[in-house]
Amino acid sequence: MIIAIDGPAAAGKGTLARRLADHFGLAILDTGLLYRAVGMNLVRQGGDPEDAVAAADVARALRPQDLAADDLRTDAAADAASRVSAVPAVRQALLEFQRAFAENPPDIGSGAAKGAILDGRDIGTVVCPDADYKLFITAAVEVRAERRFFELRERGLDAIHGRVLTDMKERDARDSDRAVSPLVPAKDALQLDTSEMDADQAFDAALRFINSENK
Ligand code: DC
Repeated sequence: MIIAIDGPAAAGKGTLARRLADHFGLAILDTGLLYRAVGMNLVRQGGDPEDAVAAADVARALRPQDLAADDLRTDAAADAASRVSAVPAVRQALLEFQRAFAENPPDIGSGAAKGAILDGRDIGTVVCPDADYKLFITAAVEVRAERRFFELRERGLDAIHGRVLTDMKERDARDSDRAVSPLVPAKDALQLDTSEMDADQAFDAALRFINSENK
């Protein structure tokens, strides 16, 4: 069983992916982390995330342990990720890793995984176009900025509301307007707007869709 979840930042993909993974016994891959790790490895080397050649080299050298770096959830990482993710050779380098994960998911805490769930921007369209179930999760940009603002505050990080909203809009534009693998819903995806839903309601809606597909 493969579930693809796509959508813009802070739409609720990660929470939904974790809930579905627990429910169905699936291994989970947050593919944004791969781009964040490439972006931060490049920045740590003193490189520029806009330098396509350097970004591609870093992507090809990425190791699984790089995904454990403790600064990948910062806004600096999100910014670097949204820049390196526009480079076709970076996307190509990360494609095999993502497909291998989907085809041979690692064991989970309770034993062998029954499949995989990947969340990102192009999972249903490019990485796993044959996924059994595709979900496209979105929410109004103001709602997403609000969620990100409170999440940053909760983690004790400084955040200015207006700045979070501006950054979110910039990142949305970069993710949607890039030439390779832009953020678009797959034709056969369930589109779910979580602007007025909590995590339970989003999970229930996703579950109803999956159960109704009868696969
Ligand atoms: O989901 P996230 O915020 O961790 O993603 C960080 C950046 O990585 C985001 O700007 C878009 C990019 N990304 C992508 O291009 N393709 C993916 N499958 C996942 C993330």
